Amino acid sequence: MKLAARMKAFSTSIFSELSIYIKQKCSEKNDMIDLSIGSPDLPPPPFVMEALSRYASDPKAYGYTLKGTREFHEAVAFYYQTAHHVSLHPETEIMYAIGSQDGLVHLPMAFADPGDIILVPDPGYPAYATGIAMAEAVPYFMPLRKENDFLPNLREIPQEIAEKAVLMFLNFPGNPVPALATEAFFREVVEFAKRYNIIVVSDFAYSELYYDGNKPISFLSIPGAKEVGIELNSLSKSYNMAGCRIGYICGNEEIIRILSKFKSNLDYGIFLPIQQAAIAALTEGASFCEQNRAIYQSRRDCFVDGLASIGWHVDRPKAGMFIWAEIPKGWNSLDFTYALIDRAGVVVTPGHAFGPSGEGYVRIALVEGEDKLLRAVEKLKQSGIFSAK
Ligand SMILES: Cc1ncc(COP(=O)(O)O)c(C=O)c1O
Repeated sequence: MKLAARMKAFSTSIFSELSIYIKQKCSEKNDMIDLSIGSPDLPPPPFVMEALSRYASDPKAYGYTLKGTREFHEAVAFYYQTAHHVSLHPETEIMYAIGSQDGLVHLPMAFADPGDIILVPDPGYPAYATGIAMAEAVPYFMPLRKENDFLPNLREIPQEIAEKAVLMFLNFPGNPVPALATEAFFREVVEFAKRYNIIVVSDFAYSELYYDGNKPISFLSIPGAKEVGIELNSLSKSYNMAGCRIGYICGNEEIIRILSKFKSNLDYGIFLPIQQAAIAALTEGASFCEQNRAIYQSRRDCFVDGLASIGWHVDRPKAGMFIWAEIPKGWNSLDFTYALIDRAGVVVTPGHAFGPSGEGYVRIALVEGEDKLLRAVEKLKQSGIFSAK
């Protein structure tokens, strides 16, 4: 069988590798606590599930939808206006995506030629690299460092790179690094994008997960942002609808027009009952989001305090779904991850899987209830890793 050369860019994901290893370990009767994948463990609000089942029993709901319904577009516009004070034209500035992943991986194909440079956060969400590989473009890593509050330093990007760059991915609150953008940083991004003619792609999938009142800023709320970019958002994390596969892209009208044209060749829309469920979530979900935040905040506090009590001091995230934990000295992130599985029965994700700057960290997803998180702390304590190192 002849494989396309571009397949060299795709290796088995770290999650598959870990899952094979865990399966093997579980057959040895290990009670493993998996905090590696960021799939929400909680259900969507009941009114969302009701909307889905109500429309699922309508025999007329089973055709191709081809694009987002008018009501879905209006619900997105309503959400952006009420939650982020951003006005969006429902018809021209919004389009559906089959989860924001769909938008992220396909976007470079529409805007980058082979060899073009795409600026990506390092560490960053792996879908950016997937999209870049599919378009045969070239990533340029923007390191996220603790001393710069995990924001990329645009002044460090060499001029010849900036001149060749066509897209810049940004992600705040981020995965795996739960950083938040400041308004000043976003203003700098707008200026940079205008100077070098770069399209900014803001991944806002964690817009509703924030703590202690640290509300994330929508890139589109910054003056001039709509002239240079788009924002992707999702129902997956905000309303626990990850399996529904529904998200959206909004912002610059011309970019949306080009993407919609491209996407009309890729798929035939999202199942109507899922769109109806998303409309219910976007228009009536504000108090659910508040309750959901309270649950994650309490999990975060219980786990961060628990880790501190055994001598592992990690930063308390202000937003997002993850703890980005510096690992004890003397380990690399992969060996440390396997040691946690072998000796504690706790699964996390090694930081290097998100890019070269992820070495020295692991990502921990807050996807279990407090009882299980405390149990994980207990197992980590008993492993002896923290007293031994
Ligand atoms: C930063 C980020 N963006 C996008 C996605 C994709 O989410 P979905 O395709 O479910 O909208 C994820 C999923 O984990 C993510 O972490």
